[in-house]
Amino acid sequence: MSHILPSAHDPSPAFQNQTLPRHIAIVMDGNGRWARAKGRPRTFGHERGVEALQRTVEAAGEIGIEYLTVFSFSTENWRRPLGEVNALFNLLRAYVKRDLARLNAKGVRIRIIGSRDDLPTDIAALIEKAETETRTNTRGHLTIAFNYGGREEIVRAARKLARSVQDKQIEVEAIDERVFDQALDTSDLPELDLLIRTGGEYRVSNFLLWQLAYAEITVMDVLWPDFDRAHLEQALSNFALRERRFGAVQE
Ligand code: FPP
Repeated sequence: MSHILPSAHDPSPAFQNQTLPRHIAIVMDGNGRWARAKGRPRTFGHERGVEALQRTVEAAGEIGIEYLTVFSFSTENWRRPLGEVNALFNLLRAYVKRDLARLNAKGVRIRIIGSRDDLPTDIAALIEKAETETRTNTRGHLTIAFNYGGREEIVRAARKLARSVQDKQIEVEAIDERVFDQALDTSDLPELDLLIRTGGEYRVSNFLLWQLAYAEITVMDVLWPDFDRAHLEQALSNFALRERRFGAVQE
């Protein structure tokens, strides 16, 4: 990730005349199938998946995408074999340890969304460190959904608000969409513009359920370890052609 973010708010010349999404989310699917096709264990696919993530963060920064949010471990992934769960935990450890300094030096702010309960204590500490060290960065925003589930996030937000009501900090009537939005893990991220799902499946898989309300969705057949800048550019070109109406009619 050596050339990330020349200027996060300044689209690269190739994209200057194109409507760029400000906030992209990615379901990085297909690691297992990619590995199986090569006769290798699923965990090998996840390892190569990290390289695809590094390529994508770099490319997104160069193109001028300000916010990138990726799904790297879902609350449902605990049901996978223990060896695979451990491998995904180790990849997060390695990724943060290896890339934190570099991302920080490039001005990228790192956030990790999802539940902190049930996480090994060293991972919780690593997440805390990554967030704290990059807190003041503004040149790009990488959010990693880890131990994340969309429904669980909504339930946590509802509990938080219920507690505030119980503690008489807010009135029930004061709870509207904006207040609810602010109780979610993504409270300081802008509206989601585009969801990319690799691996060819037409599912949301419990990712960013609330935030997807008006996002455009692009499903791509490429398996995640093969994803590169050309695929990202293809998704962006596709986005630029969409006509977003947010429920209204065209003038
Ligand atoms: C889906 O592929 C992918 C995941 C469950 C994990 C995604 C993780 C990475 C890309 C690497 C980890 C990155 C960090 C930062 C920890 P799948 O296994 O469901 O593939 P399949 O649909 O082919 O079985």
